[in-house]
Amino acid sequence: MTPGPAPVARRRVAVLISGGGSNMAALIEATRDPAHPAEIVCVLSNRADAGGLAKARAAGVPHVAVVDHRAHATREAFERAMQAELEAADVEIVALAGFMRLLTPWFIERWHDRLINIHPALLPSYKGLHTHARALADGVKIAGCTVHFVRPEMDVGPIIVQAAVPVLDGDTAETLAARVLAREHRIYPLALARVASGAVRVVRDDDGNEVVRTEGASSSGGELIWPA
Ligand code: GRF
Repeated sequence: MTPGPAPVARRRVAVLISGGGSNMAALIEATRDPAHPAEIVCVLSNRADAGGLAKARAAGVPHVAVVDHRAHATREAFERAMQAELEAADVEIVALAGFMRLLTPWFIERWHDRLINIHPALLPSYKGLHTHARALADGVKIAGCTVHFVRPEMDVGPIIVQAAVPVLDGDTAETLAARVLAREHRIYPLALARVASGAVRVVRDDDGNEVVRTEGASSSGGELIWPA
């Protein structure tokens, strides 16, 4: 018998959620492929009623837990409880996916360059909530989503991958959200693969800004000009 390819060492990933968990589900689905350099070993929610919890259990994620922020007197106590779960599950990378709590520098610094988030806008535009309604009110022609490394300021941090979608006449916040969400489900697994494999690294540019460089990324094509 000829030996098969050597198994890839896969990075152990936790996904933090507060809601339906469709991005979490996309990450679980993509990492079923043994060639993906990450595996989802842990899902934590700050809400017991998060719909994503049942999906994570049904998918067989080994460590699924609720860490209820209301059960802790301070943000840091809440984060220490999450940190204990992450350590118990031997987690190496944390992916925020619709996780609706602001994290303190205490937590963020512990996971420096190993903590990523997905945001439903083309950062640095439209940080915060209600991104699609605000983009429509401004009449933008292109919307999108961003995966980035987390830094202490909300929705700030070196950008790993972005995807753009056209805004169509007659779009509502809901129709635009659905178009963007479909792209979120594509780019989050891609960004996680690049982080887990070490293909992306955060560097300082000549002006001292933190930016991400991606090994092996194509430097041509992929443009979206809209309206066409
Ligand atoms: C997504 O739009 C994500 O970008 C934002 O919250 C939403 C979560 O959706 N941060 P889901 O729970 O992944 O379905």
